[in-house]
Amino acid sequence: MKTVGVFDSGVGGLSVLRALLAELPGVRFIYVADSAYAPYGERTVSEITDRSERITAWLRGTHHIDALVVACNTATALAIDSLRATHPDLPIVGVEPALKPAALMSHTRHVGVLATRGTLDSQRFARLRTQLESAALSPVHFICQPCDGLADAIERHDLRTQQSLCERYVAALREHAPGDMDTVVLGCTHYPFAADVLTQLLGPAVTLVDTGIAVARRTRDVLGMSIGVVTPATPPVLLSTGDPAKLSQGASRWLDLQTRAEQLLV
Ligand code: DGL
Repeated sequence: MKTVGVFDSGVGGLSVLRALLAELPGVRFIYVADSAYAPYGERTVSEITDRSERITAWLRGTHHIDALVVACNTATALAIDSLRATHPDLPIVGVEPALKPAALMSHTRHVGVLATRGTLDSQRFARLRTQLESAALSPVHFICQPCDGLADAIERHDLRTQQSLCERYVAALREHAPGDMDTVVLGCTHYPFAADVLTQLLGPAVTLVDTGIAVARRTRDVLGMSIGVVTPATPPVLLSTGDPAKLSQGASRWLDLQTRAEQLLV
């Protein structure tokens, strides 16, 4: 059986784990929520790199993982190059805001992007954005909105703050959209858990795009596994550097998993 490590700053990566469990039921996933250090979105590059390196070293040393999924846009943007340099023998799959799929889907060519400040300010994001905005054929215009505090509110399951922040950020997107915006990228793995609020505010004409399924398929490819092989579901191991009860509650609420999370000191 293959073992795959998955980590995020907190509960957000559960949106990626949900897709991984659906696509790869026979894989054993070890999920680390780095909740003691969340949110990552407003932290420095060296802090995020340090946390990512520690968690990866622990996952390798303790669980001998066959691959790693960085289920966090911010950590992918700021630390994946360093992780790949430190672990050249480990297949590492990252998560990037789905700008390309959104560009393919958008009819109006105006696409909103909701993400953390860390992701939006990164060079990796700037490269991807420029590439698509300057495409000779059918360029797309991205309206990028940093969502300070939203991942934290989702982390704390604070529904009132989520509602008011979503209202503020959707209003800001609308204000800066020069034309009709028909697609919005959820560029942080926490945000799918606020999808209902966002859909209500944006209306049915706007499609939300996230990357869970694409990341799961990429993970299957790097593991060299074939499509359609039916294997019994394996329950994931859930670990949190913060309050494990919060992670168990998130897994039960969003993934219908009754797995008890354990404390991890790393
Ligand atoms: N879920 C993470 C992401 O995809 C990080 C959010 C945060 O901790 O700020 O960017």
